[in-house]
Amino acid sequence: MLHRLSDRIKYLVRKEFQNVTSPRAEHELELANEPSFNTFYNAGTLVVICAKGDSAYLQADSWLAAENLMLAAWAKGLGACPIGFAIPALKSEEWRVELNIPEDTAPIEAIIAGFPEGRPRQRTARKSPKILSWRRQ
Ligand SMILES: Cc1cc2nc3c(=O)[nH]c(=O)nc-3n(C[C@H](O)[C@H](O)[C@H](O)COP(=O)(O)O)c2cc1C
Repeated sequence: MLHRLSDRIKYLVRKEFQNVTSPRAEHELELANEPSFNTFYNAGTLVVICAKGDSAYLQADSWLAAENLMLAAWAKGLGACPIGFAIPALKSEEWRVELNIPEDTAPIEAIIAGFPEGRPRQRTARKSPKILSWRRQ
């Protein structure tokens, strides 16, 4: 099923970016046109975090849940990664029906989990936080 969903995501990316010229569009099209690219990196599990209601914090709460899920996965020796690529496909009627997501419920984020092939290299070039103001009483 995840292979089918990955193919659908790639199709939607091709459709969205085919006439767009920007570095991002170029990068996404390159991935979407690569037959061996799987948007879930062949992970065995996808958790779709959904929310319903009209709270101003729906997005924030869902992302907090996503972060907890990723930390818990890591603690159990699994790798995890948010796949924002998946959201447009998950919002489609076809996948809502397949995954039993009711109309009043929105898929907010999709997280893959699986056994990592290796440990990713730590990034060295992190941007420093920009402190807007700092006061001492
Ligand atoms: C909102 C969001 C969506 C993301 N979607 C994807 C995705 O579709 N595919 C992917 O490979 N990584 C995705 N990522 C992961 C990022 O590419 C990146 O690996 C992650 O944020 C860790 O950043 P770092 O490498 O700077 O530590 C997403 C991350 C966030 C926060």
